[in-house]
Amino acid sequence: MKSNAQNSKVIKVLFVSTEVAPFSKVGGLGDVVGALPKSLLKYGIDVRIVTPAWPGVMQRLRDAGHKISTFSQRVSVSYAWHSVEAIVHRVDLEGVPVYLLESDEYMGSMYPWDLNAATARPFAVFCMQVLELKKVVGWTSDIFHCHDWTSAFLPCALAWHRRYHDPNAKSVLTLHNVAHQGMFPPAAFLDESGLDPSCFNMWALEYYGQVNLLKGAIISASAVTTVSPRYAWEVQTFESTQALSKVINANKDKLTGILNGIDTDYWNPETDPLIPECYSSDSLFGKAECRRELLKNTGFDPAYKGPLVVCVSRLVEQKGFDIILPALKQLDSLDAKFIFLGSGQRWIEEALRGAASAHVDSVCFFPGYNEPLSHLLYAGGDIYLMPSLFEPCGLSQMIAMRYGTVPVAREVGGLMDTVIDADCDGGGNGFTFITYDTQGMLWSLRRAIERFSNVKAWGKIRQRGMLEDFSWSHPAALYRDLYKSIL
Ligand code: ADP
Ligand code: GLC
Repeated sequence: MKSNAQNSKVIKVLFVSTEVAPFSKVGGLGDVVGALPKSLLKYGIDVRIVTPAWPGVMQRLRDAGHKISTFSQRVSVSYAWHSVEAIVHRVDLEGVPVYLLESDEYMGSMYPWDLNAATARPFAVFCMQVLELKKVVGWTSDIFHCHDWTSAFLPCALAWHRRYHDPNAKSVLTLHNVAHQGMFPPAAFLDESGLDPSCFNMWALEYYGQVNLLKGAIISASAVTTVSPRYAWEVQTFESTQALSKVINANKDKLTGILNGIDTDYWNPETDPLIPECYSSDSLFGKAECRRELLKNTGFDPAYKGPLVVCVSRLVEQKGFDIILPALKQLDSLDAKFIFLGSGQRWIEEALRGAASAHVDSVCFFPGYNEPLSHLLYAGGDIYLMPSLFEPCGLSQMIAMRYGTVPVAREVGGLMDTVIDADCDGGGNGFTFITYDTQGMLWSLRRAIERFSNVKAWGKIRQRGMLEDFSWSHPAALYRDLYKSIL
């Protein structure tokens, strides 16, 4: 049994992630890693973050006036029998120390399109550098908290690496998106990275003849979490994760679904410096001003009174574009205007560009990644469109609700845990549908558009979303309990 002294010992957790908002963010993973540690601090956890200094990151930090301290000693690991070094910088993220590793390994684009033994190398090097970090910074964590396949090499190394094997070390793996598993033909990867080749078997790292880092980490981590309770259930089904579902099922005793939160200080319509006028659930005049400003940016009729349907998204299949795009051909039957902001797959960008030029009065597309503009869409929109094919959690629908923009979402993953249909008994905060097709989505979208014209009913739905508690406070307490349970 643990003594009281052991029970009250401060828990030290190192977040190991390839994205951290606001330094480097591609999607929600960056948001989560940038926000959850701040809430863990409030529960007395000594939490720190380590991340690669991707191209441009150090310069952006300097430009933004961050105080950067650089350690005199470098972190060094051996890969393919050569030493690979990284400079270690430290910055402060609202009280959370962040270690940035600057190395030639991280000079390419963040995520390779084509994953193979060579392009997977920076992610293995990163995890090995993390395991050596304590020698440079003089701080040792009790738990490594890894995120997705890009840091999945770390729990694998603790289990099967010739140098880093440590049966007493603890790790947590959070599954943000099982669609990406870090899978590639082994080639020389095992030898070069120092993994014991005997781990290339069906009970460890091997998956249909390939290396599968996520599979290895699911097996080797002390605990596995998903970013919503519903996703924890979904990943155990063959429909969602195919053969990996067997591995997940075999490890379900250490699997927990913890719903993500959002950074409610940053995403706050009452204080947001990136929107033209702030507002609250009690006084929505500012939201009307944001809507006017958004309309101005689109070139639509400034006197338009109907609903603005907005969407801020990575342009990938996951987000439901193959059911959105056909709907944009039925605009005559919809009294709404659509505004998209996003970047990603070229075919989706081209299709959105095409829809916008064919319907200049009712479809607007802003290509690219644009943080300030995203705030204007969340604040100035009326309806938020999120008909995902799958959605491990989804932060955008929570951000939208906080800004009084009512989601139309598919009942899948974390969307199911956060969006409740307004036509359910007891009312809800959005409009949902189940079947993944254009007609299903339009059924809910039409209900939302029709309800928008009923000012009182709409106000109630919007109010409900704005008052939801999507903060990290409760999820952080669940992570604290999980950390305690594995020590
Ligand atoms: P995912 O992580 O799958 O992309 P989430 O809903 O969890 O989806 O998180 C997406 C995050 O990325 C949100 O903060 C959203 O506002 C942001 N985002 C996505 N695309 C863009 C874009 N083009 N410009 C600005 N922010 C974006
Ligand atoms: C992934 C998922 C998204 C989730 C995010 C943060 O990118 O696609 O659903 O919200 O991670 O956990």
